Amino acid sequence: MTGAAGFMGSHAVDRLLDAGHEVVAADSLVGGYRRNVNDSVRFEVCDLADRTAAANLIEAVHPEIIFHYAADATEGRSQFTPLSAMDNNIAAYLNTLVPAIDLGLKKMVLVSSMSVYGAQEPPFDESMPRLPEDVYGAMKASMETATEHLAQVHGFDFAIFRPHNVYGERQNMADPYRNVVAIFINNVLRQRSFYIYGDGQQMRAFSYIGDITPTIVDGGLSEKSNGMVFNVGSDEPHTIEELAEMVRRAFFGDQDWPEGTAPTYVPDRPLEVKNAYCSHERAVEVLGFSNLMTLQDGVDRMVRWAKEFGPQEPAYLSEQLEVGHDRAPVTWRERLI
Ligand SMILES: NC(=O)c1ccc[n+]([C@@H]2O[C@H](COP(=O)([O-])OP(=O)(O)OC[C@H]3O[C@@H](n4cnc5c(N)ncnc54)[C@H](O)[C@@H]3O)[C@@H](O)[C@H]2O)c1
Repeated sequence: MTGAAGFMGSHAVDRLLDAGHEVVAADSLVGGYRRNVNDSVRFEVCDLADRTAAANLIEAVHPEIIFHYAADATEGRSQFTPLSAMDNNIAAYLNTLVPAIDLGLKKMVLVSSMSVYGAQEPPFDESMPRLPEDVYGAMKASMETATEHLAQVHGFDFAIFRPHNVYGERQNMADPYRNVVAIFINNVLRQRSFYIYGDGQQMRAFSYIGDITPTIVDGGLSEKSNGMVFNVGSDEPHTIEELAEMVRRAFFGDQDWPEGTAPTYVPDRPLEVKNAYCSHERAVEVLGFSNLMTLQDGVDRMVRWAKEFGPQEPAYLSEQLEVGHDRAPVTWRERLI
């Protein structure tokens, strides 16, 4: 399990352990935290972007199945940190996959992303071409196609999952570059206003972690997923403004925002896809996927967890963005989040 100290990977580790599997959890801790990792799992700190380190880990573990969750998943930031997007997405992935193939890998379960659909007309379904509109999506698309080609030539099984807009307990609230639900909640905890890009009418279907983890883990282990690509996530699109309202209700019920905490509107983000949500028919039919959580209920749960966890200081990159610092969204440039 790569990316095991991250938000989604750590939940997947828990599910695999609960089912009695032998798991080795790996993460570089660049975006994840040791505290997320189940105490009873073997945990290896490893930067998979380092080819030698990745090969040594794979050699030591001889994995039968790899769940690859590791990523630099900062989609919006990837236009400004494309080298990190390359190192931690495509390079880290191939560094993990390639040595595993000759050591008897049976199956690769790749956690990809809805970003591979780009700006096509939603709802996206798996028959649509890969037309990414940003660097992160381009990396995920190339990870997917490389998997398909390598599997064909070298004879291992694979399954590809494309989640979208996942939120829930353990999401990194300190990341100012991604995770809108976590950013909104964290700023309310910090008693500050949060920022909405553009007019707030962007549509997303936010997916609760507890709804999608079972399908990726159990579905990934099942032969039914072999050679297939699946969208997984919520069918309930909402605007960013509606999300902001739900966060307000989760904290303050019928009351208005307390003084100084109502959302602030700032200009659009470069290359932000306006409307993005998916059809999940294939995952429902083949893997029995179902969504149980409404967005308001999921936000209520996350707010309960976040209140216990406490407000987090936003963790900006220690150095400047890799390229075009002056063109980055004002919230990052001026560290407003
Ligand atoms: N959260 C979402 O909304 C969402 C949506 C679509 C797809 N995804 C995908 O799901 C996966 C998990 O995302 P998440 O939200 O849990 O993100 P996350 O940042 O919490 O987890 C990613 C983990 O990968 C680790 N990592 C990064 N580079 C690494 C490297 N070179 N070597 C080893 N570990 C490395 C990070 O330290 C982190 O713990 C990612 O592949 C992401 O692209 C997430």
